[in-house]
Amino acid sequence: MPHGRRASALHAPPSAPIAGRLDARALLGHSMLDGAFLRDPYPTYGALRDAAPLVWSDEFFGGAWLVSRHADVELVLRDARFSAQRTGGWVMRPVDAAHDDRHAGRSELKGFQRLFARAMIFLDAPDHTRVRQVMAAAFRPADLQRLTPRIEQVVAERLAAVDSTQTFDFVSALARPLPAEVIGLLLGMDVGLDDAEGDVPADVVAWSDELADFIGAPTPSRAQALSAQAALLAMARYFDVLLARRRAALGSGTEPREDVIGRLLQAERDGQIRGSAELLAQCVMLLFAGHETTRHLLANGLRTLLAHPQQWQQLKQDPSLLPGAVRELLRYDSPVQYTGRRVTTDTTLHGQTLHRGDLVVALIGAANRDPARHERPDELDITRRPAPPLAFGQGPHVCIGAALTLMEAQAVFAQVLRRWPDLALTEPAAPQWTGNALYRGLTALSVQCPSLSANAHTAAPTLPL
Ligand code: HEM
Repeated sequence: MPHGRRASALHAPPSAPIAGRLDARALLGHSMLDGAFLRDPYPTYGALRDAAPLVWSDEFFGGAWLVSRHADVELVLRDARFSAQRTGGWVMRPVDAAHDDRHAGRSELKGFQRLFARAMIFLDAPDHTRVRQVMAAAFRPADLQRLTPRIEQVVAERLAAVDSTQTFDFVSALARPLPAEVIGLLLGMDVGLDDAEGDVPADVVAWSDELADFIGAPTPSRAQALSAQAALLAMARYFDVLLARRRAALGSGTEPREDVIGRLLQAERDGQIRGSAELLAQCVMLLFAGHETTRHLLANGLRTLLAHPQQWQQLKQDPSLLPGAVRELLRYDSPVQYTGRRVTTDTTLHGQTLHRGDLVVALIGAANRDPARHERPDELDITRRPAPPLAFGQGPHVCIGAALTLMEAQAVFAQVLRRWPDLALTEPAAPQWTGNALYRGLTALSVQCPSLSANAHTAAPTLPL
């Protein structure tokens, strides 16, 4: 890795573009990652896409190339010159200005790096191929079909628990807890530790949020890295105990279970999963990847639909539009806004040399609004039949949970439409974004059912005083 070059990029004064590179900050005339971007990144993406296919930004991980056009994002995700092994310089480099001791940072974050780097999403072939094969066996359509009625039931129970005669927060009522519960069912977390079937302890969800704060920070601080490490290691200890119980059950002759943990344990026995750290890393990653993404699809998606009442109406009249609508919501406002890759060998892209070790940020959110790929890209149109959006990535690392997500989101929106057809955003509806640049989502979404609220008011006088 060209350390000298990287260091100079890192320490360049913020407004000084580096010769020979088109610099994002200089091009935009301001910091890219400002509050306006975090609220609505699409105008900035548009400006980058129009100006140049490849720009440099010192605001991502100490310096990275950004690609924003659909064709380039696809290329970066598919081409083996761009490696998924990117955790080294990312996990190990956060430092605070007040505490600029890289060596101390390195040793105190070793536990984090060791576990994190083993997750499938950060592996290249042949290790990636080996682990992906094991995981793919646990995400077969038959497994998902088996889960569907249970997921529909969990959704129904969560919605039934809401007092919809009042304004309520859709994020805390459903979008935040549901995906973790679903992953719990998929993994088989209901077996071993918890008394309540399918329950994922609140701690696990909180740990996942700590990790999201770190992963979603383009320039994570040392404090964020240390909190994420504590959360990751706590999650690993949780799974460690769960896995030990499952191993003991297998050892005592209990029939192997066909959930994800069951399959991973079997693969560990067969030597396809190498060691308990590799196994742990996959469990932690699955829980995290499934929770932090789907929750935002549910909340961002509902907000987007309610902000387009005609399309909400259309869905009510024709629920068969739902599968296409969910894909369109993923294109329109993707919960995962970007991903990264490291350049494995000096490469020329758009006339610019990318050096081995450089980081490339593929702006998925920008690619999904590329007019070269999608007609009228800034319009929501639930009837469009687009090529699949890039929201789930592409190539060898394409999201393994995509089918599960689509099923879950359809179950939620179908039941919400049936139960609360006149649901509306509560005004004033200033969206409450998390401020996370990578995982675009809402901390709260206030909604109400005008008809139920009206009934509640008219019913009130008849109550005995
Ligand atoms: C709205 C929901 C979701 C979105 C937008 C999403 C998005 C993505 C994207 C963009 C990638 C590719 C990352 C890259 O190439 O660097 C990915 C990979 C992955 N996703 Fe998802 N995801 C979602 C839900 C889920 C769920 C529910 C699970 C698990 C149950 C999951 C597990 C994974 C895993 C394990 C990978 C890594 C695959 C590999 O490296 O081969 N995701 N996801």
